[in-house]
Amino acid sequence: MQYQENILLDYIDISNKFVGYHSKNQNEWHYIMSNIENNKLLLEKLNQNNLLPEEVNICDAGIGFGSALFDLYLQSKSINKKFNFFGIEKNKNYLEYLNTNLIRFWDNKLTLIKGDLTIQNYSSYDIVYTFLPYKYPTDLLKFYTRVTNSIKKNSIIIENSACGKKSELLKVDGLEKIDLGDYFVFRKI
Ligand SMILES: C[S@@+](CC[C@H](N)C(=O)[O-])C[C@H]1O[C@@H](n2cnc3c(N)ncnc32)[C@H](O)[C@@H]1O
Repeated sequence: MQYQENILLDYIDISNKFVGYHSKNQNEWHYIMSNIENNKLLLEKLNQNNLLPEEVNICDAGIGFGSALFDLYLQSKSINKKFNFFGIEKNKNYLEYLNTNLIRFWDNKLTLIKGDLTIQNYSSYDIVYTFLPYKYPTDLLKFYTRVTNSIKKNSIIIENSACGKKSELLKVDGLEKIDLGDYFVFRKI
């Protein structure tokens, strides 16, 4: 466990050394890392609540440098299921930095998708993870509605900010709120 914490700290340390262009789009957030503390034992809690299929495709919509998803990758090592990790990102500087400096941490378990998260197909993911790609709630709501309409029944959407408790996801039809104690996640019904 200590070993895994050290690897995560190394990963975050390298991602913090990025010097370069952050998007200036007024509606989209540039890279800010999820609150990793909120994600403690997140996969274990999903597993205990029977929310994980045997093979789990997890996608971070707006992966940035991937620290949050890398934390989930480390967590997945203690769960006896097959996990596949995907990250969508449109900022080519983030992708280049990740590919150059961080991809070696992933043991070929991460697939990166370069593009706009609003036009992706989410139907193959069992978990869609996000941390505030948009600043305006109306755009977040539109995005979550689109994701909800495209994912399979029982797939999960997780929003890191405020542990899902103040999320626009609460307003989306077709989702059931699941209370994991200190985290709300949302299941497609
Ligand atoms: C607040 S950061 C979250 C990073 C990471 N998911 C995490 O939780 O630590 C939001 C990320 O979404 C990306 N992003 C914002 N709008 C996007 C869009 N329309 N398409 C793809 N990526 C986008 C940003 O470049 C940034 O890396």
